[in-house]
Amino acid sequence: MKGVILVGGLGTRLEPMTRITNKHLLPVWRYPMVYYPLYTLVEAGIKDILIVTGGNSPGGFLELLHDGGEFGLQHLYYTYQPAPQGIADAVRLCGHFINEEPFVVILGDNIVNGSIRPYVQEFAEYPIGARILLAEVPDPERFGVPAFDDDGNITALIEKPADPPSSYAVIGVYMYDSQIWEILPTLQMSDRGQYEVTDVNAAYLERGRLDYDILPFEWTDAGTPESLQHASDIAQHSPFLSELPIGTRD
Ligand code: G1P
Repeated sequence: MKGVILVGGLGTRLEPMTRITNKHLLPVWRYPMVYYPLYTLVEAGIKDILIVTGGNSPGGFLELLHDGGEFGLQHLYYTYQPAPQGIADAVRLCGHFINEEPFVVILGDNIVNGSIRPYVQEFAEYPIGARILLAEVPDPERFGVPAFDDDGNITALIEKPADPPSSYAVIGVYMYDSQIWEILPTLQMSDRGQYEVTDVNAAYLERGRLDYDILPFEWTDAGTPESLQHASDIAQHSPFLSELPIGTRD
């Protein structure tokens, strides 16, 4: 499977720290933020990775990561999102790289305190539809949130609901098949001026092609001052993240 890391966007919730640099280059514990999602993909066995950059200091990723050799990769691929129009817009820019194959998207500000390898493998074995990951959070109103029926089936997905129907967040790790290329052109821009990934997932739900797993470990985004600090705390105290097994290419 191929992987995509999204590091565009303006990071306005972290002003003024993001006025000059890109949010995903800010420190989380002892690494630049983007190291964590990149490690999450590499650890899951994904080797073909495209970084979608944009916003401030987009060239910083090439300077920082080069060809990905520190992570044991042979290549890293880069593309550019000219306008910060949301996650679904950024995914649209990956069509040439994905080529109808199943793929994983991870948001560059997501800190995942455990391995996603089992979920990626499961999807790779039966790559039909979409697979999302959920984490229980104290503040679901900040995220995409699922509603469930009594049998535990997702019945709706709502972006940043004022009155959340559950205590789960849809985390920023998404697995898709090629149906996404039919879905993306049908999306409408949301009130916050973005093409929402929640609308992509809702379209898969409507087609009866959305699966989910609930993470048994901690997860956070790092897009607000509070969550950035929380991300550093998680990374510092995590056996999985505190010291990433990176180095020079062998
Ligand atoms: C985005 C998605 C949201 C998801 C979150 C995970 O939110 O829109 O559905 O739960 O990432 O980090 P944003 O960071 O754009 O507010």
